[in-house]
Amino acid sequence: MGKLVVIDHPLVKHKLTIMRDEKTGPKEFRELLKEITLLIAYEATRRVPVYKKTVRTPLAEAEGYYFEDNKIVVVPILRAGLGMADGILELLPNASVGHIGIYRDPETLQAVEYYAKLPKLDDGSVIFVTDPMLATGVSAIKAIEIIKEQGGNDITLISLIAAPEGVKAVQDVHPDVDIYTAALDSHLNDHGYIIPGLGDAGDRLYRTK
Ligand code: URA
Repeated sequence: MGKLVVIDHPLVKHKLTIMRDEKTGPKEFRELLKEITLLIAYEATRRVPVYKKTVRTPLAEAEGYYFEDNKIVVVPILRAGLGMADGILELLPNASVGHIGIYRDPETLQAVEYYAKLPKLDDGSVIFVTDPMLATGVSAIKAIEIIKEQGGNDITLISLIAAPEGVKAVQDVHPDVDIYTAALDSHLNDHGYIIPGLGDAGDRLYRTK
């Protein structure tokens, strides 16, 4: 079973509270999403492989480490996941970025892919899928499926707020995927929104309501 890691650092809690506040506008909302994602990514990248490297300080040789951030692939789920990708890229500027667009068919309620453009994936790719609201988990499950079909197998899901229903759904279908989030909220309402959540993350990022 994949891990669920809730990053409950005071800085994250503080910033998330401002994001939840309905009075917070898109500028601050976008900035905070980026900042929190950076803080979550700091933890989520803890197990990225590092290699030994010797450097010369002005005084002596020092054993150090480096990692290959070109092996990192960030995959935002459109559209709200885009707001998180920038936070990871701030830490890992040479990462590749793939994009996946998914909608839910209103009749079948199935997740349908409408866009997928990913870099070449292989066993060495370390993949971070971003989606701020892990609600039903339908989009995340589908995105992870698409990534696996294209050869990715080291996948971590990064969300801002998760609902227990979404966490369970992802863990049931993709038990190999770890989930990092800033908060685990109470439940979903009848419309699939996270309670208390923060409303529609896409609308709040891009002022579409
Ligand atoms: N998507 C959102 O933007 N918010 C929710 O609460 C659930 C899904």
